[in-house]
Amino acid sequence: MKILVVGNGGREHALLWKLRRDAPHAELFVTGGNGGTDGLAQSVPLAAAEMQALAGWAEQNGIDLTIIGPEAPLAEGIADHLTNHGLRVFGPGKDAARIESSKAFAKTLMAKYGIPTADFRVFESLGEAEAHVRGLGGPVVVKASGLAAGKGVVVCDTAEEAAAALRDTMAGGAFGAAGEQVVVEERMTGEELSVFALTDGENVIAMLPAQDHKRVGEGETGPNTGGMGAYAPVSPATPALMEQVERDILRPTVAAMAREGHPFRGLLYAGLMLTPTGPRVVEFNCRFGDPETQVVLPLLRSSLLEPMLAIARGESIAGMTLEWHPGAAVTTVLASGGYPGDYATGLPIHLPPEVEGMDDVVVFHAGTRREADGALVTSGGRVMAVTALAPTVAQAAARSRAAAESIEFQGRLLRRDIGWREAAREGTHA
Ligand code: AMP
Ligand code: GLY
Repeated sequence: MKILVVGNGGREHALLWKLRRDAPHAELFVTGGNGGTDGLAQSVPLAAAEMQALAGWAEQNGIDLTIIGPEAPLAEGIADHLTNHGLRVFGPGKDAARIESSKAFAKTLMAKYGIPTADFRVFESLGEAEAHVRGLGGPVVVKASGLAAGKGVVVCDTAEEAAAALRDTMAGGAFGAAGEQVVVEERMTGEELSVFALTDGENVIAMLPAQDHKRVGEGETGPNTGGMGAYAPVSPATPALMEQVERDILRPTVAAMAREGHPFRGLLYAGLMLTPTGPRVVEFNCRFGDPETQVVLPLLRSSLLEPMLAIARGESIAGMTLEWHPGAAVTTVLASGGYPGDYATGLPIHLPPEVEGMDDVVVFHAGTRREADGALVTSGGRVMAVTALAPTVAQAAARSRAAAESIEFQGRLLRRDIGWREAAREGTHA
């Protein structure tokens, strides 16, 4: 079997790592790749954005399954392009990807079908949006409707702050076209939960829920990022809560998408907040989360390839189940100094060989590349995600942190408190 993974970050490295375990003899390919995918997959010198060329390449090379990692190509319709070439794709078409690429679309869908989420209004006029937040007078959340790499959201305490965020988003051009339409939301409170659900457009299989740390600084301070670390499992996500999530959120959303004429097939990622009135949706994504994938997949004992293939072939996943390892996983992201703002690239990385040989530690590469002489250097904002497995989150966090700290490059940024909420809960129960 030949499998192509589109994308070249930590999430894609984790997908390749899992696929290699599920199918030891498969031929794996990756678009571009990074310093860590070299040993796992052959690099295809095409970018995700080169959709036509990629479809042609996949067809010529007899690719049996193409898995799309990032949201941007999905929002551009890469799955439709590949499907039109007769290829099997894991990832939704452009219409269904709107559940992530247009927050206005997602919110309107949720309102129409009674899926629990924050109250909201959509604006295209700065004046009207400003008048609205001044009228509310309290804490709100301002979001660019389009894709903004996890950075288009401002959580505001006051109407003044919200007005400033609206001006930046709508008039300041901070997010380009993504900010022409904004969503102003009620601010919710509670812990967040990332739930991945495999879906064939009708049936859903929820994966082990995870929690990520979006703020750049320890103690959840500083600006939002793509994610500085993650852990699983999350103890407030009890089996009863997950049943509620499936019943009230995942299944109704998948049914709503089908009903609206754009069935969602692939991975639906529900970003939830566990509010005092129950789980509510913060956002939907149309692909695996990064860095949550780097903790969820290492805990998955059963095959991921099997349900992915069924979904890509248009078959049903009814009756399929997933099996999980006991214990916990924690991943610590190593980021470039300055991230999520400007940062330098091309900096040499010292990756001690013993770290890669450590039991129960996996180093997933993201923004890394190999120079012609084989030297490993930084090439992006998030550089690596260092995952450790252990019986408890506290133990996995300590292992992940120690391994991450032994990897060095100039300006290296990492959080030393990944999983702190769960570690505290484990402490009280011990
Ligand atoms: P999003 O890109 O929509 O996931 O938003 C990024 C982050 O902003 C979320 O992970 C939350 O921490 C925060 N956020 C978004 N919407 C809300 C909301 N309605 N209430 C409180 N926090 C929110
Ligand atoms: N970790 C957040 C995301 O993948 O969107």
